Amino acid sequence: MRTTNLLTMFLIAMLVAGAGGQAVDSADKALDAEGKSVFRRANCMGCHKWDGSGGGGYGGDALSLRQTQLSREQIIMTVECGRPGTGMPYHMRGAYDDSNKPCSGMDRQQAGVQMPPEPTTYLRANDIKAVVAYVIDTIKGKGSTTHAECTAFWGSDSRVCNVYLGAGQQQSRPGG
Ligand code: HEC
Repeated sequence: MRTTNLLTMFLIAMLVAGAGGQAVDSADKALDAEGKSVFRRANCMGCHKWDGSGGGGYGGDALSLRQTQLSREQIIMTVECGRPGTGMPYHMRGAYDDSNKPCSGMDRQQAGVQMPPEPTTYLRANDIKAVVAYVIDTIKGKGSTTHAECTAFWGSDSRVCNVYLGAGQQQSRPGG
């Protein structure tokens, strides 16, 4: 009896989740908007650039997030734990504390010289979820940066974006 009830509840939950397609879409948009603000606030863009194309900077060679092959789980892990031995900071408070060790089972001492840099801004789990959704939905796998992407990020009248007005894109110049 009890198992049957649980099964019924599970099936109903799945149906409800399936029917909520539209609600999920707008929830995704809200998550991406939140993620974009985290991308700025946590200074991901300071190292990876606004479009995630990466390049040399004060954190060393920040990899291109446009070309990343990492899965969502792997990106979450990278943002939480940073990358030992590189300039990629960890962002989860206590990531390398003695008691905790969620990052490859290492504490500060074990990480030693490989210890990733401290972040300028610590992120909560929700912030990390949001910024990773933003990276996956709007940056990963996007090819070369376009003028449209630039105006969407900075606002349509931004002159910063003129550098992306390459051949074939002139017609999208805002305001002529
Ligand atoms: C201080 C500079 C700096 C900041 C800030 C920074 N990163 Fe990085 N990031 C790096 C560097 C350098 C690497 C390359 C590490 C390597 O060589 O393996 C990297 C690598 C990554 C990777 C791995 C890409 C791959 O394909 O292996 C991801 C994902 C990533 N960063 C996301 C982020 C996000 C999201 C933020 C903001 C929360 C952020 N980074 C903030 C410097 C930075």
